[in-house]
Amino acid sequence: MLLALQPAIAPAQDVATGRVLAERWCANCHIVTRSATTGRADGVPSFPALADAPQTTDTSLRRAMSASHGRMPDFSLTSREQDDLIAYIRTLGKR
Ligand code: HEC
Repeated sequence: MLLALQPAIAPAQDVATGRVLAERWCANCHIVTRSATTGRADGVPSFPALADAPQTTDTSLRRAMSASHGRMPDFSLTSREQDDLIAYIRTLGKR
């Protein structure tokens, strides 16, 4: 996969890698950063809102990424990529 060839992404930076993945694969549909102040009208949950939701767990995030959800294509994310995305989404929460 192309991403693995980018030297800027250090293997230890789970959160940074997760952010790159989110911006690449998820931002078409989701608001993936805290800087956005408004939600979307079409009901797609923003990542900060997901991070803040009390029912959100690592398991629920992983399940959402593993199965195709809504109009979301099958990304076939590796478990490592899922871990990075979960680590990143976690940083967006207020908790
Ligand atoms: C093509 C549009 C699209 C893309 C791209 C997309 N999503 Fe989603 N996502 C949705 C929609 C729509 C929902 C709302 C729930 C539904 O419709 O099933 C959703 C819901 C979610 C949820 C909440 C599921 C729940 O149980 O409430 C998570 C977590 C999520 N997406 C993660 C991701 C991640 C991580 C990515 C990037 C790897 C991503 N999504 C990319 C459309 C998308």
